[in-house]
Amino acid sequence: MGLRLKFNLILILITIVGLAASGYASNKLLQNNAREEVLNMARMMMESAIAVRSYTVSEVRPLMKVQQRRKFIAQTVPAYAANQYIKKLQETHPEYSYKEATLNPTNPANRATEWEADVVSWFRANKDEKELIGERMSPTGPQLYFGRPITITNPNCLACHSTPAAAPQTLIDSYGSSNGFGWKLNETVGAQIVAVPMELTLERAANTFQTFMLALVGIFLAVAVVLNLMLHYIVIKPVRVMSGAADKISLGDLDVEEIKVSGSDEIGLLGRSFNRMHRSLSNAVQLLDETDD
Ligand code: HEC
Repeated sequence: MGLRLKFNLILILITIVGLAASGYASNKLLQNNAREEVLNMARMMMESAIAVRSYTVSEVRPLMKVQQRRKFIAQTVPAYAANQYIKKLQETHPEYSYKEATLNPTNPANRATEWEADVVSWFRANKDEKELIGERMSPTGPQLYFGRPITITNPNCLACHSTPAAAPQTLIDSYGSSNGFGWKLNETVGAQIVAVPMELTLERAANTFQTFMLALVGIFLAVAVVLNLMLHYIVIKPVRVMSGAADKISLGDLDVEEIKVSGSDEIGLLGRSFNRMHRSLSNAVQLLDETDD
């Protein structure tokens, strides 16, 4: 096997192993970062919805206390406020969603869909869990969802959510008495679920990965070309010349030209040594010839 072949086989092997290892590691890292980024967006959205809820309770509800007696004002309900806020947000970001998915809701729009009901059931089965993060395929592409349980810990909630008899008449007038009741203290009645699209972020991660890998392949190729050229001009070519000259000398042709030596590296040293040996051999043979005469 020639030097060039040996050298290139090893180079290719290292390149393949190197590319595979760095490709695997960087892809994993980029995907994790993308997921983390989407999750941060989801958390931010959840925090905003919670902030709107708390604003409604602390600032809007007290202002409406008197008016509320005559007519139920949905704007004082935190769930309503959060939903309205998200609706506005969806005008510019339609693929983002927030829902107070509830198994038996006051407002039918909040009824949990099948997959949301699964999230609620999971929280009902795992009482100690405060968060559930998952991925799902939606009609608009892959989504990351982030859920938090809605558990009734405040007895005041039951004023409107326990029995129609306990609820303000104004509420019954607006929402009817057939649903949104029968909730119990410490029961997990639903889940706040934020869903954020992953496609764009994943795509960006894939593009970054592609660029990185292409750059890496480019670097390996450039290194391979340069190393091959160096191997050719610094090692293979001078060694071939020397071996050709050595062949001729061994066949008795002592008049071959001296090898042109340039540089002071090991190959240059070898060339000089070769020329010295060639000269000594010629002298020795000449001496022999002279004594023969
Ligand atoms: C003054 C009556 C009232 C009180 C008190 C009240 N809610 Fe509600 N709640 C409502 C109404 C009305 C809706 C429907 C709002 C809408 O149109 O989206 C609602 C909606 C909800 C929803 C969304 C699902 C659904 O049923 O439509 C959740 C979750 C919820 N409430 C939880 C609570 C919790 C938790 C408390 C206590 C901290 C509470 N509520 C206290 C009236 C009330």
